[in-house]
Amino acid sequence: MNYKTALQHPIFSKISEATASLQLDAYAIGGFVRDFILERGDAKDIDVVAIGSGIELAKKVALLLPNKPKVKIFKTYGTAMLRYQDIEIEFVGARKESYNENSRNPVVENGTLEDDQNRRDFTINAMAISLNQESYGNLLDPFNGFDDLRNKIIKTPLNPDITYSDDPLRMLRAIRFATQLNFTIEDESLVSISKNHHRINIITNERIVTELHKIMESEQPSKGFLLLEKTGLLKHILPELIALKGIEEIEGQRHKDNFYHTLEVVDNICKHTDNLWLRWAALLHDIGKAPTKKFHKKIGWTFHGHEFEGSKMVYKLFKRLKMPLNDKMKYVQKLVFMSSRPIALADDVTDSAVRRLVFDAGDSVDDLMTLCEADITTKNPKKFKKYHHNFQLVREKIEEVEARDHIRNFQPPISGEDIMTTFNLSPSREIGIIKERIKEAVLEGEIPNQYEAAYEMMLVEGEKLGLKVAAKS
Ligand code: CTP
Repeated sequence: MNYKTALQHPIFSKISEATASLQLDAYAIGGFVRDFILERGDAKDIDVVAIGSGIELAKKVALLLPNKPKVKIFKTYGTAMLRYQDIEIEFVGARKESYNENSRNPVVENGTLEDDQNRRDFTINAMAISLNQESYGNLLDPFNGFDDLRNKIIKTPLNPDITYSDDPLRMLRAIRFATQLNFTIEDESLVSISKNHHRINIITNERIVTELHKIMESEQPSKGFLLLEKTGLLKHILPELIALKGIEEIEGQRHKDNFYHTLEVVDNICKHTDNLWLRWAALLHDIGKAPTKKFHKKIGWTFHGHEFEGSKMVYKLFKRLKMPLNDKMKYVQKLVFMSSRPIALADDVTDSAVRRLVFDAGDSVDDLMTLCEADITTKNPKKFKKYHHNFQLVREKIEEVEARDHIRNFQPPISGEDIMTTFNLSPSREIGIIKERIKEAVLEGEIPNQYEAAYEMMLVEGEKLGLKVAAKS
């Protein structure tokens, strides 16, 4: 089969020219070839394998390019990278590798194209397209990756025990590709992952999180999480989710299985948002339920305070996985913390409760509503309709209150400065008390969110505290 059509980018003819002048062979390989066959859009990253020195090839290619781009060399890995126009090309020498049992550090020897293909993760990622002049565009596919792509199969080129032991991250990659591409992992591979899951513990959290994000960015992340759970990987990575699994029954009272419920919520939210962190909030919104679960004879199962507990767990989880402890983490914490607020509202939508919701959620209020709507997983069609209808009312009320009262990112209409000047005060607790009363009055709807009304209230509250209005100078 010839794939010259994959090589239309001008970089390829330059690489071909360089191979001829250096008298070595080179191939485009891996994800680039896979994604071309799958028609997944134009590639931005291209991997090129040289039978010889990848670094020398990269240097030669750079010299042949009109703008002579800089070549970035990674000596430890024997690789080199350059950017040309809109793409990034990574050059590597073909390798015959084996990995040390307890680390990712490979013992590297030079190899042939086949050696290199052998040591790749999956048959669909091991296909190569020749960049050599006499065979330009030919597909080299020793493991029938092409058929596996057509049949939507994830399969390792070698015995899976060897491939996964070479780099245990591949167990997670198998599940990531299956989720992303909606492929099936071959049975032998699944058995091997189920046997070797504990080896994921030698992989750095950063690499694990990259794969988790890709699962979360897929159309239906539940597919990945079910596989992670089934193979035993999930308990090493996100034990908080495993703790949600199962249904307990006491005196005939059962609670729902919060693990499967969570996965449904994640799939639901993916239909409405591409925001990765909102998706994470959906994944973690119930994690506080495991540690707060209690059974009471009179009222049955409760999860009191699970939102607060859950938001604390978000911090610990992000820290453990070395995810950013920045505004993204705080956003997820906030959504988890507030995840039950709109539900409590849905039965009785009062203006003041909506104002408080908007005040507390700030800019995240729309995302919070999206999360709560995704959280409706009842199989009772009547209830389903009712809850959605109620949330629609809450959304309308939010808009109405917003338009009237401008509560989002609310700043009290009277500042501490105003209070100090009016009563000729130096910084003191009275200022805080007056400000808080004004804020409460606005949120409760006792006064409008306007300067004049707030000024009046300040005078009244000041008097109550025994303060005297300062004489005007
Ligand atoms: N690869 C591998 N084992 C790994 C990682 C990568 O064998 N643990 C090989 C595969 O041949 C893969 C190529 O290196 O196709 C490039 O890897 P990478 O850029 O991480 O992934 P892609 O396959 O390009 O896929 P994506 O861009 O979706 O991450």
